[in-house]
Amino acid sequence: MIGHPVHHSFSPLIHNTAFQILHLNSRYLALDIEPRQLRRAIAGAQALGIKGLNVTVPYKETVIPYLDYVTPEARFIGAVNTIVFRNNKSYGHNTDYSGFARSLEFARDELRRANVLIFGAGGSARAVIYALMKSCHCKRMVLSNRTRKHAEQLIRHFSKLKSRTRLEFAESGMINGDSFQVVINTTSVGLNDEASLVTAEFFRSNQLVYDLIYNPIETSFLRHAKSAGARTVNGIEMLIGQAAEAFKIWTGCAMPLQEVRSALQNFIANSPENMPI
Ligand code: ATR
Repeated sequence: MIGHPVHHSFSPLIHNTAFQILHLNSRYLALDIEPRQLRRAIAGAQALGIKGLNVTVPYKETVIPYLDYVTPEARFIGAVNTIVFRNNKSYGHNTDYSGFARSLEFARDELRRANVLIFGAGGSARAVIYALMKSCHCKRMVLSNRTRKHAEQLIRHFSKLKSRTRLEFAESGMINGDSFQVVINTTSVGLNDEASLVTAEFFRSNQLVYDLIYNPIETSFLRHAKSAGARTVNGIEMLIGQAAEAFKIWTGCAMPLQEVRSALQNFIANSPENMPI
């Protein structure tokens, strides 16, 4: 994995656990790359015979011009988080979107009928919106964001996609929880603290509520949702989902999800001081 910074990432634990369980003679390392070394780092990894890379903040967009091929999905989303080297060529994928879709596989039928509310219009929102439009085929999606212009730009961009999903903007003060069966937080509000965009009164017991944040594992946003009786999904599921999709691309093998999830849960339970930021 390349990024800047990369300390305390969960990804080495996820992939190395999977390698060990499947007896694959492979290692996953997190490497901190200086911005001006990005291009050379990719060429160097390829020259060294490394099988592939994960790309994280802040390089998911800037890495694109350095690749030989980029999937249409990653190009549309505007971000690559997984590279595979094959036959002397580099291929860029986005497994954030496919991993997010995979993490909602259990709710597939309900998503097709759902009105979905998304908080945020940043990089993570792009992958989530793509997944909901192209993989989950949800009925209607409403974006709410602090900066209206950012949400409107996303709506313009994603309206070019062929999809049955209706896409709209809503001012945060105008949203009524009753209208939504699925609510997703893609903003950084609640990361490392107790902040939440909404209070418990906003949520309903028939809702599915997802927070992409995994530190803390249960955000105030999810705690409020739970207290209203909603079902909740935390950011660990997207983290594991995107990792499983990347693992499949590199190795051709399915990630042993149960074992990986319990290794991650044990690690978090035993060493909260090692939580990534
Ligand atoms: P990421 O790649 O994790 O999505 P990002 O691209 O920086 O990160 O996006 C962060 C999102 O969180 C944005 O939607 C941002 O809103 P703005 O478009 O108005 O910047 C949202 N966000 C961050 N801090 C916020 C806050 N204090 N209140 C509301 N929204 C916030």
